Amino acid sequence: MPEDCVDKPHIVTCTAPVNIAVIKYWGKRHEELILPINSSLSVTLHQDQLKTTTTVATSRSFQEDRIWLNGKEEDINHPRLQSCLREIRRLSRKRRNDGDPILNATGLSHKVHICSVNNFPTAAGLASSAAGFACLVYTLAQVFGIEGELSGIARQGSGSACRSIYGGFVQWLMGQKEDGKDSLAQQVEPESHWPELRILVLVASAERKPVGSTSGMQTSVQTSCLLKHRAESVVPGRMAEMIQAVRRKDFAAFAELTMKDSNQFHATCLDTYPPIFYLNSVSQQVINVVHRYNRHYGETRLAYTFDAGPNAVIFTLQQHVPELVEVVQHFFPPETNGGQFIKGLPVNPVAISEELKQAIGLEPMSKGISYIISTKAGPGPRVLTDPTQHLLGPDGLPK
Ligand code: DP6
Repeated sequence: MPEDCVDKPHIVTCTAPVNIAVIKYWGKRHEELILPINSSLSVTLHQDQLKTTTTVATSRSFQEDRIWLNGKEEDINHPRLQSCLREIRRLSRKRRNDGDPILNATGLSHKVHICSVNNFPTAAGLASSAAGFACLVYTLAQVFGIEGELSGIARQGSGSACRSIYGGFVQWLMGQKEDGKDSLAQQVEPESHWPELRILVLVASAERKPVGSTSGMQTSVQTSCLLKHRAESVVPGRMAEMIQAVRRKDFAAFAELTMKDSNQFHATCLDTYPPIFYLNSVSQQVINVVHRYNRHYGETRLAYTFDAGPNAVIFTLQQHVPELVEVVQHFFPPETNGGQFIKGLPVNPVAISEELKQAIGLEPMSKGISYIISTKAGPGPRVLTDPTQHLLGPDGLPK
């Protein structure tokens, strides 16, 4: 490297997606390594609608590792952040010792500056830690010249983050080994596999989640025998069925498994002692609307799933989206003077029939849902090549 570049920081920016589990991960068998008690399966959401962007800069002149999240400097000593940094540096050292010829110029002793932002509100309760850790690990890997398997490192940031390393339909195999080396994510099908599939995130009027997933699942593992039964006897069969449903693009089978698995996850929360409630009255109304809608048509056209919060994620096929949006607007009349109700992929409005409204037959709940994000399955993390998109300037500080 020419002498005059030595102190210029090496800067890389990447983006990574959010994922939504249709077979849920809930419960760890090892807290630090983040090893789950069951396998899980998710759909990676498209980054045009939901993504994290992370810039990592390294330079000989940086004094210490630092991180800024959504505009605010945070503590770099967070144990999970440290796990990811340590793993990346360890792999990089290993490659160097193995004499890898394509190692880039980043010195192992160099400190890193990390800056990360989400293009969606953290308060919306969407899986920001999954996209965040996937993006962090993917970007660090580019900086330190590491190729290959990254899901095992992302997993150590946040369990669900390992699935955001891949696009499309992704399984996280729980693995058997004590050191966690076989607890990895794998793509089941790419995002192009099922182009008609649509995903609508119904953002319940923003409320922060009462119990975080990390501590919630700890209490569940300690107290819920339903969770133990689920992990041992239910999930293995469901994983196999879900993979089949995805491969065959069998929407009814996919949808029914998705709803049953979400319901069982929330049942394990109720079986936790003291119980944990993530669903609220808006979530319950969404569940009822979906079942009554499906019953009216005599086929499963919609599916819901909920994570550790009240926001519903609805799966459907493209042709049903316009009617679904109208149904949601009707049963959850939005605030009139608010912003756009539907964001993301454009939707052409249609009228819904009196017959359908009557078949659903529920009282509308005003302002229960603040907006909808319409999206589809999308690709895994990406490197941004345009330097104007770096979140850190040449001085290594947020722009
Ligand atoms: C309900 O991955 O957030 O969203 O591993 O402790 O960081 P930690 O938990 P996290 O848990 C996600 C739980 C879930 C289900 C899922 O995404 O599979």
